[in-house]
Amino acid sequence: MAGRSSPYPLTKPVGTITRGTTGVNRLRRSDRWLINDEVVTTRLRAASNPLVVDLGYGANPWTTLELAARLRTVRADVSVVGLEIDPERVAADQDGVAFTRGGFELAGLRPVLVRAFNVLRQYPETAVTEAWSTVRSRLAPNGLLIEGTCDELGRRCAWVLLDQDGPRSLTLAWDPFTVDRPSDLAERLPKALIHRNVPGEPIHTMLTAADHAWARAATSAPFGPRVRWRAAVQLLRDDGFPVRHYRRRLRDNVLSVPWSAVAPLGSA
Ligand SMILES: C[S@@+](CC[C@H](N)C(=O)[O-])C[C@H]1O[C@@H](n2cnc3c(N)ncnc32)[C@H](O)[C@@H]1O
Repeated sequence: MAGRSSPYPLTKPVGTITRGTTGVNRLRRSDRWLINDEVVTTRLRAASNPLVVDLGYGANPWTTLELAARLRTVRADVSVVGLEIDPERVAADQDGVAFTRGGFELAGLRPVLVRAFNVLRQYPETAVTEAWSTVRSRLAPNGLLIEGTCDELGRRCAWVLLDQDGPRSLTLAWDPFTVDRPSDLAERLPKALIHRNVPGEPIHTMLTAADHAWARAATSAPFGPRVRWRAAVQLLRDDGFPVRHYRRRLRDNVLSVPWSAVAPLGSA
């Protein structure tokens, strides 16, 4: 798509152009989570300016338009801006969503929510902390950043939720019917964790325990993979893992823990 100049304060975009792979409905699982999560929805509803940025939407703006449509079910007056560091990928404004060039500096915007999916995946692990803090420093008061990755079809997804104080939680979400075991998510962990899935690191301990719980919950398999996962989560919790409990029935299998449960050894 043709590039165009920015209507927002001009700053040099911070970051690097990477592959623009995306897909229709690829980010549905994280969208579903966003519009149901209590922290996200409370902060979005309370924001004086309900501005949301989709950072690094790729070669087509599909996922940004989908995010906007889903967030409007939480707050009808949400305004969504897609930012891309590649000027050739800046899309035309459409369906009430604006698109412009920008990087981790957020083009001078101060959003209450930033979504960056499959962006840091192509950066070195050492770039994560600075990218996170650049975005976090640009958030509106009580703003949030959701930073994650997924596979091409969005069946296996993982993300970190951060606010101005740092990372709050890690969430893994997957298609109950095409994923064999929780550790299948390992290759889609966010950049901050993907290289830490080795014995001794908390993320490895948790994924190993999740696989064991999944195996022990096999007696629930006849009732389907969602019921089996709910049983596995209870076993994990019984074993002391602080896995978040969801009262409502979930379409996806979800494993969400406080960041402190999986933070890499030696991280602040
Ligand atoms: C793999 S695509 C992801 C597309 C979409 N978010 C998805 O998950 O389907 C990554 C995009 O992020 C862009 N990108 C990389 N670093 C960026 C940055 N610092 N700021 C804005 N966009 C960035 C790349 O140019 C690329 O188009």
